[in-house]
Amino acid sequence: MGRRLIVGNWKMNKTASQGEALVRELARLVTRTDSVDVVLAPPFTALASVRRVLPTDGRFVLGAQDLYWEDQGAFTGEVSGPMLLDLDCRYVIVGHSERRQYFGDRDEGFNKKVGAALRHRLSPILCIGETLAQHESGLTNEIVITQLLGGLASLTAEEIRATTIAYEPVWAIGTGRAATALQAEAVHATIRHHISTTWDAEVANGVRILYGGSVTAANAGPFLASQHVDGALVGGACLDPQSFAKIIALASSETQGFS
Ligand code: 13P
Repeated sequence: MGRRLIVGNWKMNKTASQGEALVRELARLVTRTDSVDVVLAPPFTALASVRRVLPTDGRFVLGAQDLYWEDQGAFTGEVSGPMLLDLDCRYVIVGHSERRQYFGDRDEGFNKKVGAALRHRLSPILCIGETLAQHESGLTNEIVITQLLGGLASLTAEEIRATTIAYEPVWAIGTGRAATALQAEAVHATIRHHISTTWDAEVANGVRILYGGSVTAANAGPFLASQHVDGALVGGACLDPQSFAKIIALASSETQGFS
């Protein structure tokens, strides 16, 4: 298993100055990240201020929560890949279920966004996951694979290599009801299998698949110890520096334990 990846998705939380304070505190608590990749994804409005206070040793890198697929032009309210690159973003979240749920975004658009991210050498984190109703109807694998193949349509193996997948069951997001590590492991294995059959086994083995949905410092351990779980996409708990620092520490020690 390779390096784990821990991503903090701040969602629509923290002003630019609050974001600075959060990152200063996090940097005080997390002094090294030698064996884990840590991405902070503040709102667009806080990217510049967070960047100013990021430790210069690369302990944390910046990510954005979305992007538009065109590079520039008359697209009011949107933000493009070149704009994110200019602020030193390395990663960008694409396809979050809140985008599907509240803004009507769909797989076809996510596919274009993944393509735009890759074109600009931003690493896309494609989020996929079923709703509670779909989960209870036994449709989990079907939904997840449809979203996976829709979001990654016509990508080359090389492009998949630069992409991260995040399995985020909608029923687990912000509910305090995380999936079990066993549930996540099973879905992640299915995702990896489909990447292997659609592209190739080597790419499938290398691609990082994160779990997201009510991850906390208290429950992150078993996820991070699972074979097919390569990290976590953390919402609520990343807004609390103590909790996020603990999750990062768990990912670091687990990596060392497994290497
Ligand atoms: P919570 O950790 O708050 O459940 O959010 C998960 C999520 O949606 C991260 O993208």
